[in-house]
Amino acid sequence: MSSKLAALNDWVASVAKLTQPDAIHWCDGSDAENAKLTELMLSTGDLVKLNEQTHPNCYLHRSSPSDVARVEHLTFVCTSKQEDAGPNNHWMAPAEAHAKIDALYAGCMRGRTMYVVPYCMGPIDSPLARCGVEITDSPYVVANMRIMTRMGAAAQARIEREGSFVKGLHSIGQLDPERRFIMHFPEELTIKSFGSGYGGNALLGKKCHALRIASYQARTEGWLAEHMLIVGIENPKGETHYVAAAFPSACGKTNLAMLIPPEGYRRDGWKVWTVGDDICWMRPGADGRMYAINPEAGYFGVAPGTSAKTNPNALAMLYKDAIFTNVGVTADNQPWWEGLPEGTPAKDWQGRPYDKAVSPAAHPNSRFTVSAKNCPSYTAKAEDPQGVPLSAIVFGGRRESLVPLVFEARDWTHGVLVGASMASETTAAATGAVGVVRRDSMAMKPFAGYNFADYFAHWLSFDKPGAQLPKIFHVNWFRKNDQGKFMWPGFGDNLRVLEWMLKRVTGQAGAIETPVGNLPKPSDLNTDGLGLDAATLEQLLTIDRAGWKAEMESIGEYLDSYGERTPHVLKAERAKIAAQLA
Ligand code: GDP
Ligand code: PGA
Ligand code: MN
Repeated sequence: MSSKLAALNDWVASVAKLTQPDAIHWCDGSDAENAKLTELMLSTGDLVKLNEQTHPNCYLHRSSPSDVARVEHLTFVCTSKQEDAGPNNHWMAPAEAHAKIDALYAGCMRGRTMYVVPYCMGPIDSPLARCGVEITDSPYVVANMRIMTRMGAAAQARIEREGSFVKGLHSIGQLDPERRFIMHFPEELTIKSFGSGYGGNALLGKKCHALRIASYQARTEGWLAEHMLIVGIENPKGETHYVAAAFPSACGKTNLAMLIPPEGYRRDGWKVWTVGDDICWMRPGADGRMYAINPEAGYFGVAPGTSAKTNPNALAMLYKDAIFTNVGVTADNQPWWEGLPEGTPAKDWQGRPYDKAVSPAAHPNSRFTVSAKNCPSYTAKAEDPQGVPLSAIVFGGRRESLVPLVFEARDWTHGVLVGASMASETTAAATGAVGVVRRDSMAMKPFAGYNFADYFAHWLSFDKPGAQLPKIFHVNWFRKNDQGKFMWPGFGDNLRVLEWMLKRVTGQAGAIETPVGNLPKPSDLNTDGLGLDAATLEQLLTIDRAGWKAEMESIGEYLDSYGERTPHVLKAERAKIAAQLA
């Protein structure tokens, strides 16, 4: 097979010449193709079949133990000018980067099949969607891309109509951490990834295309590509408001996107609809409102901690047609991870007999890959080519101290400052130390494909006459008390906070103004049936002025670290708040 598009054929031919595969397979995305690939992976040990009775059509993949997370120190944005990548990215000159990685690609697919994977990010008929082609030598990547994107013949047809596409070249190489690079060439709409088979490094439609390349494209085309979930909240009157929320990796996006309302809310008729759990592409519509699509078609979620108690919707979608990566297994071959109350692990994620003293059963960043349509709260609105209108944008991080449960930004400019100032404790989603607080503007530190200073300016540019922008909020589900315990129950109860936000949007709820932002009084939150003591709630909703004074100093230094390119309005907004706190 080949394509009607000469540019695509030429690129595939040039890659084949460089990498020397034994065979080339153009993926059509069909069931038959998937069945064949699955057979192949079972025979090579790339996949292990899980218990067919309890988990029909589910498989386990064990990755190389040194290839279990995104590698930010090996991830580069290669713009011709270093300033365009910004201090937020590792940069390499494009010519040098191409030379370096092409040397690794030389002959790397000998003895392997090269798969050509056309995919569409977003509903196939959406004007907001964008297409790409990933070339890979990993059948595991093909199987994941088939779940995570609209992959195959329809995507290829759109690419042939449009004539342009993002080029992504991927090889697992030798899975050697010393010979690993994830390179982005936004000016060439090109991605080159070598030496890793892990999700964010290898499923190039996801973080590489839909965030790094797309954020760059979005800036030139007047839209935003963001690291956000999209969720619909239907109130008892049957009105649905859509909310997008940016939290860093492993800070609760998938959970919030699939939230199950607390008992009392369910009785009253509240419903939650999942549009997306990781990435949001949005742009102003003709009516001035911001419209959002989820460019993905599946979820690549964190397994540990997913249980009937924390995220019943996520658990419910994992009983069929799912791929698990780096989880443990029970004696009867059911997938198992820490946080599941039932079952006993027999083997750990590396396939060794489980020994608590040696390793957790599941790697902390172990994942599931599953179609969005498997989720009980999935909504057909996720297929709407025009997207859903956003009522609110939420920023949030993992902060054990200082940051209150929720506050509202006064206006768009303040909201952009709140997003730019975000900070969070690092997690197992990327290699490196866990639990270190770092600034992670809009949860995009690892994912913005260009200079953050220009990115902040781009965010500010949406505030123009006629715009009906979403209200901006900040949340923190992760405050801890002196005993190191989470103070807020989180998960389903986060709907209480969302209810307050949406009542602010419609002008039905009160707030106390502080320099940091507007906070609910404890009585503004519905705490029926919550069982939280008054002192804890009070503490969750209080601004520690001395602590915030120091935080504002630190935010000032952070904004200054981007130099003269940082928008002056942001610096002025920060200075105003700092003065009010003094
Ligand atoms: P994502 O990577 O941003 O999609 O994050 P997930 O939704 O997968 O959650 C990552 C981890 O945070 C999991 O271990 C969750 O159990 C945990 N988590 C998610 N939401 C909450 C919450 O509201 N409170 C607490 N304490 N933990 C949460
Ligand atoms: P997530 O990221 O933790 O935001 O879901 C997936 C990844 O790290 O590739
Ligand atoms: Mn997630």
